[in-house]
Amino acid sequence: MTTRVFTGLKPTGQLQIGNYLGAIRPLLDLAADPDNDLLVSVADLHALTVQHDPARLRALTLEMVATLLACGLNARAKLFVQSSIPAHTELSYLLESTATYGEMARMIQFKEKSRGQESVRLSLLTYPALMAADILAYQSEVVPVGDDQRQHLELATTLARRFNGTYGDVFTVPRGATPAETARVKDLRDPTTKMGKSGAAGAGVIFLRDEPDAIVAKVRRAVTDNNPTLTYDPRNRSGVANLAVLLGALTGSSPGAALDEIQGAAALKAAVAEALVETLAPIQKRYRELTADPAELLSVLRSGAEVVAGDAVKTVANAREAMGLLSLH
Ligand code: AMP
Ligand code: TRP
Repeated sequence: MTTRVFTGLKPTGQLQIGNYLGAIRPLLDLAADPDNDLLVSVADLHALTVQHDPARLRALTLEMVATLLACGLNARAKLFVQSSIPAHTELSYLLESTATYGEMARMIQFKEKSRGQESVRLSLLTYPALMAADILAYQSEVVPVGDDQRQHLELATTLARRFNGTYGDVFTVPRGATPAETARVKDLRDPTTKMGKSGAAGAGVIFLRDEPDAIVAKVRRAVTDNNPTLTYDPRNRSGVANLAVLLGALTGSSPGAALDEIQGAAALKAAVAEALVETLAPIQKRYRELTADPAELLSVLRSGAEVVAGDAVKTVANAREAMGLLSLH
Protein backbone atom coordinates (compact mmCIF):
# COMPACT_ATOMS: atom_id res chain seq x y z
CA MET A 1 0.00 0.00 0.00
CA THR A 2 1.28 3.42 -0.86
CA THR A 3 0.83 6.47 1.32
CA ARG A 4 -0.79 9.47 -0.28
CA VAL A 5 1.30 12.53 0.50
CA PHE A 6 0.17 16.02 -0.47
CA THR A 7 1.84 19.38 -0.39
CA GLY A 8 1.31 22.80 -1.92
CA LEU A 9 3.77 25.52 -2.85
CA LYS A 10 2.67 29.11 -3.18
CA PRO A 11 4.18 30.95 -6.19
CA THR A 12 4.84 34.30 -4.55
CA GLY A 13 8.49 35.09 -5.16
CA GLN A 14 11.44 34.41 -7.40
CA LEU A 15 12.87 31.08 -6.30
CA GLN A 16 16.20 31.20 -4.49
CA ILE A 17 18.63 28.62 -3.17
CA GLY A 18 16.84 28.57 0.23
CA ASN A 19 13.66 27.41 -1.50
CA TYR A 20 15.64 24.72 -3.31
CA LEU A 21 17.40 23.37 -0.21
CA GLY A 22 14.49 23.95 2.19
CA ALA A 23 11.49 22.98 0.06
CA ILE A 24 12.25 21.50 -3.37
CA ARG A 25 15.01 19.03 -2.47
CA PRO A 26 13.04 17.54 0.46
CA LEU A 27 10.18 16.97 -2.01
CA LEU A 28 12.53 15.17 -4.40
CA ASP A 29 13.55 12.93 -1.49
CA LEU A 30 9.91 12.20 -0.61
CA ALA A 31 9.19 11.47 -4.26
CA ALA A 32 12.10 9.05 -4.42
CA ASP A 33 10.44 6.75 -1.87
CA PRO A 34 8.31 4.29 -3.86
CA ASP A 35 5.98 3.89 -0.85
CA ASN A 36 4.80 7.45 -1.35
CA ASP A 37 2.16 8.56 -3.82
CA LEU A 38 3.14 12.24 -3.88
CA LEU A 39 0.94 15.07 -5.14
CA VAL A 40 2.44 18.54 -5.47
CA SER A 41 0.21 21.48 -6.23
CA VAL A 42 1.38 24.94 -7.20
CA ALA A 43 -1.04 26.95 -5.08
CA ASP A 44 -1.75 29.89 -7.34
CA LEU A 45 -5.17 30.57 -5.81
CA HIS A 46 -3.49 31.17 -2.48
CA ALA A 47 -1.47 33.95 -4.11
CA LEU A 48 -4.72 35.88 -4.66
CA THR A 49 -5.23 36.43 -0.94
CA VAL A 50 -3.10 39.59 -0.88
CA GLN A 51 -2.58 42.35 -3.45
CA HIS A 52 -1.03 40.85 -6.54
CA ASP A 53 -0.04 41.64 -10.08
CA PRO A 54 -1.67 39.28 -12.62
CA ALA A 55 1.28 39.18 -15.06
CA ARG A 56 3.71 38.54 -12.21
CA LEU A 57 1.53 35.76 -10.78
CA ARG A 58 1.39 34.06 -14.18
CA ALA A 59 5.17 34.34 -14.58
CA LEU A 60 5.89 33.07 -11.05
CA THR A 61 3.50 30.14 -11.48
CA LEU A 62 5.24 29.10 -14.69
CA GLU A 63 8.65 29.62 -13.08
CA MET A 64 7.67 27.37 -10.18
CA VAL A 65 6.32 24.68 -12.48
CA ALA A 66 9.29 24.78 -14.85
CA THR A 67 11.74 24.73 -11.92
CA LEU A 68 10.07 21.72 -10.31
CA LEU A 69 10.10 19.93 -13.67
CA ALA A 70 13.73 20.93 -14.27
CA CYS A 71 14.59 19.42 -10.89
CA GLY A 72 13.01 16.16 -12.07
CA LEU A 73 9.99 16.13 -9.76
CA ASN A 74 7.43 14.94 -12.28
CA ALA A 75 9.18 11.62 -12.85
CA ARG A 76 7.84 10.39 -9.49
CA ALA A 77 5.25 12.88 -8.35
CA LYS A 78 1.97 14.22 -9.71
CA LEU A 79 2.47 17.90 -10.36
CA PHE A 80 -0.41 20.24 -11.10
CA VAL A 81 -1.62 23.80 -10.74
CA GLN A 82 -4.25 24.29 -8.04
CA SER A 83 -6.54 26.55 -10.09
CA SER A 84 -6.70 24.02 -12.93
CA ILE A 85 -8.89 21.75 -10.78
CA PRO A 86 -12.21 23.53 -10.10
CA ALA A 87 -13.10 20.87 -7.52
CA HIS A 88 -10.76 22.63 -5.05
CA THR A 89 -12.80 25.83 -4.97
CA GLU A 90 -16.05 23.91 -4.87
CA LEU A 91 -14.90 21.84 -1.91
CA SER A 92 -13.55 24.96 -0.27
CA TYR A 93 -17.08 26.38 -0.09
CA LEU A 94 -18.42 23.17 1.43
CA LEU A 95 -15.66 23.34 4.04
CA GLU A 96 -16.39 27.02 4.72
CA SER A 97 -19.84 25.78 5.60
CA THR A 98 -18.25 23.37 8.06
CA ALA A 99 -15.93 25.89 9.72
CA THR A 100 -16.73 28.92 11.83
CA TYR A 101 -15.74 32.55 11.50
CA GLY A 102 -13.97 32.34 14.87
CA GLU A 103 -11.79 29.46 13.72
CA MET A 104 -10.64 31.34 10.65
CA ALA A 105 -10.13 34.65 12.45
CA ARG A 106 -7.94 32.94 15.06
CA MET A 107 -5.32 31.81 12.55
CA ILE A 108 -1.95 33.39 13.31
CA GLN A 109 -1.19 33.99 9.64
CA PHE A 110 -4.50 35.83 9.16
CA LYS A 111 -3.86 37.97 12.21
CA GLU A 112 -0.32 38.81 11.11
CA LYS A 113 -1.15 39.57 7.50
CA SER A 114 -4.29 41.57 8.26
CA ARG A 115 -2.89 43.58 11.16
CA GLY A 116 -2.77 47.29 10.38
CA GLN A 117 -4.11 46.80 6.84
CA GLU A 118 -6.77 49.16 5.63
CA SER A 119 -8.26 46.62 3.28
CA VAL A 120 -8.06 42.84 3.74
CA ARG A 121 -9.23 40.44 1.07
CA LEU A 122 -11.92 38.07 2.29
CA SER A 123 -9.95 35.19 0.78
CA LEU A 124 -7.18 35.88 3.30
CA LEU A 125 -9.64 34.94 6.02
CA THR A 126 -10.99 31.85 4.25
CA TYR A 127 -7.56 30.70 2.97
CA PRO A 128 -7.39 27.72 5.39
CA ALA A 129 -10.66 26.32 3.98
CA LEU A 130 -9.10 26.25 0.51
CA MET A 131 -5.94 24.68 1.87
CA ALA A 132 -8.06 22.06 3.66
CA ALA A 133 -9.89 21.44 0.38
CA ASP A 134 -6.57 20.89 -1.42
CA ILE A 135 -5.62 18.26 1.13
CA LEU A 136 -8.98 16.55 1.69
CA ALA A 137 -9.95 16.38 -2.01
CA TYR A 138 -7.28 13.73 -2.51
CA GLN A 139 -7.89 11.73 0.69
CA SER A 140 -4.34 12.70 1.63
CA GLU A 141 -2.83 10.85 4.57
CA VAL A 142 0.35 12.77 5.15
CA VAL A 143 1.04 16.48 4.63
CA PRO A 144 4.62 17.71 5.07
CA VAL A 145 4.45 21.34 6.17
CA GLY A 146 6.78 23.80 7.80
CA ASP A 147 6.02 25.50 11.12
CA ASP A 148 4.14 28.39 9.55
CA GLN A 149 1.52 26.06 8.03
CA ARG A 150 1.04 23.75 11.01
CA GLN A 151 -1.95 25.63 12.40
CA HIS A 152 -3.67 25.52 9.00
CA LEU A 153 -3.10 21.79 8.79
CA GLU A 154 -4.57 21.30 12.27
CA LEU A 155 -7.66 23.17 11.14
CA ALA A 156 -7.89 20.89 8.10
CA THR A 157 -7.88 17.80 10.36
CA THR A 158 -10.50 19.43 12.62
CA LEU A 159 -12.75 20.14 9.64
CA ALA A 160 -12.32 16.61 8.27
CA ARG A 161 -13.31 15.11 11.63
CA ARG A 162 -16.24 17.47 12.08
CA PHE A 163 -17.55 16.83 8.58
CA ASN A 164 -17.22 13.06 8.97
CA GLY A 165 -18.93 13.19 12.38
CA THR A 166 -21.80 15.32 11.10
CA TYR A 167 -22.45 13.95 7.63
CA GLY A 168 -20.74 10.56 7.51
CA ASP A 169 -17.27 9.37 6.60
CA VAL A 170 -16.21 11.24 3.49
CA PHE A 171 -12.67 12.40 4.22
CA THR A 172 -9.46 10.72 5.26
CA VAL A 173 -8.20 12.62 8.31
CA PRO A 174 -4.69 13.78 7.37
CA ARG A 175 -1.69 14.07 9.62
CA GLY A 176 1.19 16.48 9.41
CA ALA A 177 4.74 15.42 8.86
CA THR A 178 7.71 17.47 9.91
CA PRO A 179 9.89 17.70 6.85
CA ALA A 180 13.41 16.34 7.27
CA GLU A 181 15.72 18.85 8.92
CA THR A 182 16.92 21.08 6.13
CA ALA A 183 19.48 23.78 5.77
CA ARG A 184 18.28 27.21 6.82
CA VAL A 185 20.08 29.51 4.44
CA LYS A 186 20.75 33.10 5.44
CA ASP A 187 21.23 36.16 3.27
CA LEU A 188 24.86 36.40 2.10
CA ARG A 189 25.07 40.12 2.87
CA ASP A 190 23.14 39.95 6.13
CA PRO A 191 23.72 36.45 7.54
CA THR A 192 21.44 37.03 10.52
CA THR A 193 18.28 37.11 8.35
CA LYS A 194 16.77 34.32 6.28
CA MET A 195 17.64 34.40 2.61
CA GLY A 196 14.69 35.48 0.51
CA LYS A 197 12.96 38.01 2.69
CA SER A 198 15.55 40.76 2.58
CA GLY A 199 15.46 43.59 0.10
CA ALA A 200 18.65 45.19 -1.26
CA ALA A 201 17.75 44.03 -4.78
CA GLY A 202 18.87 40.51 -4.01
CA ALA A 203 22.58 41.29 -3.52
CA GLY A 204 22.78 38.56 -0.87
CA VAL A 205 20.30 36.19 -2.50
CA ILE A 206 21.25 33.40 -4.91
CA PHE A 207 18.33 33.00 -7.28
CA LEU A 208 17.95 29.64 -8.98
CA ARG A 209 18.12 31.43 -12.31
CA ASP A 210 21.30 33.41 -11.58
CA GLU A 211 24.02 32.99 -14.20
CA PRO A 212 27.36 31.51 -13.04
CA ASP A 213 29.18 34.86 -13.09
CA ALA A 214 26.44 36.47 -11.00
CA ILE A 215 26.71 33.60 -8.52
CA VAL A 216 30.49 33.97 -8.29
CA ALA A 217 30.19 37.74 -7.80
CA LYS A 218 27.51 37.46 -5.10
CA VAL A 219 29.39 34.80 -3.16
CA ARG A 220 32.63 36.75 -3.39
CA ARG A 221 30.91 39.68 -1.70
CA ALA A 222 29.35 37.57 1.05
CA VAL A 223 29.96 38.86 4.57
CA THR A 224 32.58 36.90 6.54
CA ASP A 225 34.99 38.06 9.27
CA ASN A 226 38.67 38.71 9.91
CA ASN A 227 39.51 35.42 11.55
CA PRO A 228 41.58 33.47 8.97
CA THR A 229 40.88 30.12 10.67
CA LEU A 230 37.56 28.64 9.59
CA THR A 231 35.32 27.30 12.34
CA TYR A 232 31.63 26.46 12.36
CA ASP A 233 30.17 28.82 14.94
CA PRO A 234 26.71 30.02 13.87
CA ARG A 235 26.27 32.23 16.94
CA ASN A 236 29.48 34.25 16.68
CA ARG A 237 30.50 33.75 13.06
CA SER A 238 27.21 33.85 11.16
CA GLY A 239 28.74 34.69 7.78
CA VAL A 240 31.24 31.81 7.72
CA ALA A 241 28.64 29.48 9.23
CA ASN A 242 26.13 30.34 6.50
CA LEU A 243 28.68 29.53 3.78
CA ALA A 244 29.46 26.27 5.59
CA VAL A 245 25.74 25.40 5.72
CA LEU A 246 25.44 26.06 1.99
CA LEU A 247 28.53 24.08 1.10
CA GLY A 248 27.50 21.18 3.34
CA ALA A 249 23.97 21.05 1.95
CA LEU A 250 25.21 21.21 -1.64
CA THR A 251 27.91 18.58 -1.24
CA GLY A 252 26.14 16.22 1.15
CA SER A 253 28.08 16.76 4.34
CA SER A 254 27.60 18.54 7.65
CA PRO A 255 28.49 22.24 7.81
CA GLY A 256 31.40 21.50 10.14
CA ALA A 257 32.81 18.75 7.91
CA ALA A 258 32.42 20.97 4.87
CA LEU A 259 35.04 23.31 6.33
CA ASP A 260 37.56 20.56 7.03
CA GLU A 261 39.72 20.75 3.95
CA ILE A 262 39.41 24.46 3.37
CA GLN A 263 41.73 27.26 4.42
CA GLY A 264 40.58 30.85 4.59
CA ALA A 265 37.46 32.72 3.56
CA ALA A 266 38.50 33.21 -0.07
CA ALA A 267 38.90 29.47 -0.60
CA LEU A 268 35.59 28.82 1.16
CA LYS A 269 33.83 31.29 -1.13
CA ALA A 270 35.39 29.71 -4.21
CA ALA A 271 34.20 26.27 -3.06
CA VAL A 272 30.67 27.53 -2.35
CA ALA A 273 30.42 29.27 -5.72
CA GLU A 274 31.65 26.16 -7.50
CA ALA A 275 29.15 23.92 -5.67
CA LEU A 276 26.32 26.34 -6.47
CA VAL A 277 27.19 26.51 -10.16
CA GLU A 278 27.57 22.73 -10.32
CA THR A 279 24.16 22.19 -8.71
CA LEU A 280 22.32 24.87 -10.65
CA ALA A 281 23.82 24.56 -14.14
CA PRO A 282 22.02 21.32 -15.11
CA ILE A 283 18.75 22.58 -13.59
CA GLN A 284 19.06 25.84 -15.52
CA LYS A 285 19.79 23.99 -18.75
CA ARG A 286 16.60 21.90 -18.40
CA TYR A 287 14.71 24.99 -17.31
CA ARG A 288 15.71 26.80 -20.51
CA GLU A 289 14.69 23.82 -22.63
CA LEU A 290 11.34 23.58 -20.88
CA THR A 291 10.51 27.26 -21.11
CA ALA A 292 11.59 27.45 -24.75
CA ASP A 293 8.39 25.61 -25.60
CA PRO A 294 5.51 27.06 -23.54
CA ALA A 295 2.97 24.89 -25.35
CA GLU A 296 4.81 21.79 -24.17
CA LEU A 297 4.87 23.12 -20.61
CA LEU A 298 1.13 23.71 -20.68
CA SER A 299 0.58 20.24 -22.05
CA VAL A 300 2.57 18.73 -19.15
CA LEU A 301 0.30 20.68 -16.79
CA ARG A 302 -2.80 19.49 -18.58
CA SER A 303 -1.70 15.88 -18.17
CA GLY A 304 -0.92 16.51 -14.51
CA ALA A 305 -4.41 17.89 -13.99
CA GLU A 306 -5.98 14.99 -15.87
CA VAL A 307 -4.19 12.46 -13.69
CA VAL A 308 -5.42 13.91 -10.40
CA ALA A 309 -8.80 15.47 -11.28
CA GLY A 310 -10.78 12.23 -11.05
CA ASP A 311 -9.96 11.73 -7.37
CA ALA A 312 -10.93 15.28 -6.47
CA VAL A 313 -14.18 15.17 -8.43
CA LYS A 314 -15.13 11.92 -6.71
CA THR A 315 -14.48 13.31 -3.23
CA VAL A 316 -16.48 16.45 -3.95
CA ALA A 317 -19.40 14.41 -5.27
CA ASN A 318 -19.38 12.39 -2.03
CA ALA A 319 -19.18 15.54 0.09
CA ARG A 320 -22.03 17.20 -1.83
CA GLU A 321 -24.25 14.18 -1.44
CA ALA A 322 -23.45 13.81 2.26
CA MET A 323 -24.39 17.47 2.84
CA GLY A 324 -27.75 17.08 1.16
CA LEU A 325 -27.10 18.71 -2.21
CA LEU A 326 -29.01 17.19 -5.10
CA SER A 327 -27.17 15.10 -7.62
CA LEU A 328 -28.64 15.22 -11.11
CA HIS A 329 -26.61 12.29 -12.38
P1 AMP B 1 8.71 31.14 1.31
O1 AMP B 1 9.26 31.51 -0.02
O2 AMP B 1 9.34 31.86 2.44
O3 AMP B 1 7.20 31.11 1.36
O4 AMP B 1 9.13 29.62 1.54
C1 AMP B 1 8.73 28.57 0.71
C2 AMP B 1 9.45 27.31 1.15
O5 AMP B 1 10.88 27.45 0.97
C3 AMP B 1 9.27 26.94 2.62
O6 AMP B 1 9.19 25.53 2.72
C4 AMP B 1 10.52 27.45 3.30
O7 AMP B 1 10.86 26.71 4.43
C5 AMP B 1 11.57 27.29 2.20
N1 AMP B 1 12.57 28.35 2.33
C6 AMP B 1 12.45 29.64 1.93
N2 AMP B 1 13.55 30.35 2.21
C7 AMP B 1 14.41 29.50 2.82
C8 AMP B 1 15.72 29.63 3.36
N3 AMP B 1 16.39 30.78 3.33
N4 AMP B 1 16.30 28.53 3.91
C9 AMP B 1 15.63 27.35 3.94
N5 AMP B 1 14.40 27.17 3.47
C10 AMP B 1 13.78 28.22 2.90
N1 TRP C 1 -0.65 27.54 2.12
C1 TRP C 1 0.64 26.97 1.82
C2 TRP C 1 1.72 28.04 1.89
O1 TRP C 1 1.42 29.21 1.92
C3 TRP C 1 0.66 26.33 0.46
C4 TRP C 1 -0.39 25.28 0.36
C5 TRP C 1 -1.56 25.36 -0.35
C6 TRP C 1 -0.36 23.99 0.98
N2 TRP C 1 -2.25 24.20 -0.22
C7 TRP C 1 -1.58 23.35 0.58
C8 TRP C 1 0.56 23.32 1.79
C9 TRP C 1 -1.88 22.06 1.04
C10 TRP C 1 0.24 22.05 2.24
C11 TRP C 1 -0.96 21.42 1.86
O2 TRP C 1 2.89 27.71 1.91
